[in-house]
This record gives sequence, C-alpha cells and structure tokens, in this order.
Amino acid sequence: MGEPKKVLVFRELPDDQLARLTAAHDVTVANPRIAAQLAAFEAALPQAQGLIGSSFPVDAALLAKAPKLEVVSSVSVGVDNYELAALHVRGVLLCHTPGVLTETVADTVFALLMATCRRVVELANLVRQGQWHKNIGPEFFGHDVHGKTLGILGFGRIGQALARRAALGFGMPVLYNARRPVDLASQAPELAGRAHYAAFDELLARSDIVVAMLPLSASTRGLMDERAFAQMKPGAVFINGGRGATVREDALLAALDSGHLHAAGLDVFATEPLPLDSPLRTHPKVTALPHIGSATHETRHAMAVLATSNLLQALAGERPVACYDTGASDR
Ligand code: DGY
Repeated sequence: MGEPKKVLVFRELPDDQLARLTAAHDVTVANPRIAAQLAAFEAALPQAQGLIGSSFPVDAALLAKAPKLEVVSSVSVGVDNYELAALHVRGVLLCHTPGVLTETVADTVFALLMATCRRVVELANLVRQGQWHKNIGPEFFGHDVHGKTLGILGFGRIGQALARRAALGFGMPVLYNARRPVDLASQAPELAGRAHYAAFDELLARSDIVVAMLPLSASTRGLMDERAFAQMKPGAVFINGGRGATVREDALLAALDSGHLHAAGLDVFATEPLPLDSPLRTHPKVTALPHIGSATHETRHAMAVLATSNLLQALAGERPVACYDTGASDR
C-alpha cells in the first residue's frame, strides 16, 4: 500500500465505505452544504488530494483552492456539478457511478410515469383526506399507459432500461431520440424492432408520453422550451427524470395551464431542493418527487462502493473503472 493521502469527503458516506477510506488514507469529512461544516471543508481543501461526494459544484474557483488535487470521485452518474474544462486543464481525474443505478432510476421514472397518467398520488391523497364519499367518476379518471406511444429523449443506459419496461412489459411502441441511432440488434437485441429512432420534433409530435432522460450540457440546457412543448400532442404527458435545467419550467407551466399538456411528472428541477414558492410544487397537474431516481438503500450503497473504489484506485495510481472523459467535446 502506498503513502496515505489527504482525502476530503464532502457528503455523507456509509460507514463501511468510510472505513475503507480511513484504512488507507487521512480522511476529513466536511459537508459544505451544512453551514457548520463549511469552515472545515475550506480548511481541508488546500491539502486535499482526493475529493469524494456529490451535489456540490466543483468549479474553477474551488479547484484554485485545492492545488494538490489529483482526483474527484462523484457519488453520482451525472457530472453537471463539475466544471469539466477546468478539471481537464488541471489534469484532475473525474470518476462517477454509471451502471449501478440504471435499473433503479428506470424503476423510479416508470413509477412516476404511472403515477402521473393514473393520478395515483392525487387520488391516494383524496382517500387520506377523507374525501372518498362516492364512486370515483370521470372527473378523477386517468389515462391508460399500456399501448400508448412512449417517446424517450436520451437513450443511454437508463433510457434503454425504460424502453425495456415500456416495450416488453406494457406493450408500448417506443420512439427514442439521441445524438445518433443506437444499433439495437447488437447493443440491446430485446429492443430491436420495438424501439425506433425518431428526430426530435417527430418524437414530440408522435408520442403520447414524452420522457426526458437527458444529461445537462450546453446542447441540452433549456431544450424543452415553448417551441418543444408546442410540438407535443395535445393532451400528452411529460416526464422528466434526467436534469431539471433541460426544461424551461416557465414554458412547461404555460403548456399545462393552457391545457395543451395533460400532466407532468417531475423528479428533477432547475433548482433543488424545489423552492417553496415554485408553482410546480402545488400545481394540480404536476406530480413532483424530490429527486429520488437512485434513492434506494441498495443502489445508494452500490454507488458509494463504486465511488470509493474509484477514489482508492486513482489515489493508488491505477486507472479507475469509471472515469469520465473531461476532455470530450459537446458538453
Ligand atoms: C445521478 O447519479 O446523477 C442521479 O441524478 C442521482 O440520483
């Protein structure tokens, strides 16, 4: 084992993973999102060689305070909190957690889709509030999910897992849009003939339910804007399980309020936690979740294990299994 290095843990890690780190390195735990821990976080940065955590921006200003940094290990698959160009210029390695959360996020998004189309949360609340006085009539009916056309924006691992649930479990024709068509015959044979590439506008125009599973980048920020919502079928449902800032929330609200869209299900928002004064929080056509895509005991633990392994490998001078290419273009 090499010399112990200085590791700064900037978000809670499970005890067993913290123990793996402390067995090999000199570890400081300080979460900058907790006011009482901010000073400790700032004090540890100048010596830090490895960072591990999530949900906090690591930008050029922060990197300037961490001159010895070798690696940042994110406990997330999304990397939008990291200033990629700044990491690249400094030669700091970025690791993340793809793969281990795929099925869990797809479960969450499908649950949100079902809940939104069938008004599950709204009607469960009606029972809870003692408002179930008579048989439910058409004013509370939902819309079928099975057999409807599902459009998926973003067709990486999670988009494909969602497509499997929809096509194989619910008999849904699936359209997808991605930077380029996926060779399903070799990469996801179970979806060959069941999921079809469609141009962005065509997907919006033909889908009964549109799910955005987009990473946040320069090309996806605000992609779902007024024009995009206007392309969607009247009465369609919109779900966002990717990143909040890919959607212009004012445009979504306008499309819901005008009656053009039937409903929206959102697990992610432009600002998180969702501000109390956001109209999305209480909108009658919105089912809102607090960013729980990967939030199961099993998956959050698996993410922590992978992130810890990534960090230990990088600090040992090995190539971690899940490195992110900070130098690639089109972010
Ligand atoms: C991720 O890993 O990026 C997810 O958004 C966390 O739930």
